[in-house]
Amino acid sequence: MIPFRSFYSSLAIRLVFITYFTICLSTATIFVSSDDSDLVSYVTLPDHRVLKCNITYYDRQAVAPGYWFVAPYWITGGEPYTNRWMPYQIGPYIFDQDGTVIGLDLENANGTVLNNRYQITGSTPVNDKHEFYVYAPGRSLAIHHRREVVDLWKIGMPGVPRLVKLHGFRDIDYTTGEIFFEWDSQGHVPLDESFIAVEAGPPDDPADYLHANSVEKTKDKNGTVSLNPPSPSCPT
Ligand SMILES: *[C@@H]1O[C@H](CO)[C@@H](O)[C@H](O)[C@H]1NC(C)=O
Ligand SMILES: *[C@@H]1O[C@H](CO)[C@@H](O)[C@H](O)[C@H]1NC(C)=O
Ligand SMILES: *[C@@H]1O[C@H](CO)[C@@H](O)[C@H](O)[C@H]1NC(C)=O
Repeated sequence: MIPFRSFYSSLAIRLVFITYFTICLSTATIFVSSDDSDLVSYVTLPDHRVLKCNITYYDRQAVAPGYWFVAPYWITGGEPYTNRWMPYQIGPYIFDQDGTVIGLDLENANGTVLNNRYQITGSTPVNDKHEFYVYAPGRSLAIHHRREVVDLWKIGMPGVPRLVKLHGFRDIDYTTGEIFFEWDSQGHVPLDESFIAVEAGPPDDPADYLHANSVEKTKDKNGTVSLNPPSPSCPT
């Protein structure tokens, strides 16, 4: 069994794999800002502009079947359209072996464990593609969040409701979905400990006052979770 610690490590494994078999994956080289020829648009995916891949096989027989995962740029929610060329279009993307996109936009991605035949043995939602830590067969820690309307009394605005994200993690059986333990910041980390302006922003956009990035099991079997509020200089 191959325990993929997170989407990113599966990506790294795949990239090593690609390099090992000397497949050449490259995009066209010269573009001007008004030229979109490096991107593909799909009628059924109007919000997406997908990188074109120029794939050359030197020995196709030597390449194991599978898909290619292309690294995500950290924004996954979509940017305003420009025709500025960037070496990092919004991702992540999954391509088949001929460079046709077969999957994208994994903002609400799962942590998925495959066996050595690349068959799925279990899958569980992982908030924002953050930590998915398989610590034993079937058992994992997964970053999790829920949205809840809270009263802002703690930051001096009693009676003012605000939708917030409450981040934490689950100790979960990724094969059955059974939750052994769940923790989130509600009742543990008050709103006034964040340097985010919790009251700011559109009401339907939950305040991300404390953002969970990673979680680990300590030797005494407790969980340690790393949380930080996002900021423009420190994207999470
Ligand atoms: C694709 O890459 C190969 C190998 O570098 C090159 O010979 C070919 O011209 C490229 N094709 C396009 C359409 O860019
Ligand atoms: C994610 O996991 C859930 C729970 O196991 C499952 O129902 C869902 O199909 C999975 N989604 C994907 C895209 O794998
Ligand atoms: C781990 O959890 C146990 C049980 O809740 C507690 O008694 C112990 O102090 C915790 N250890 C640490 C290092 O926090």
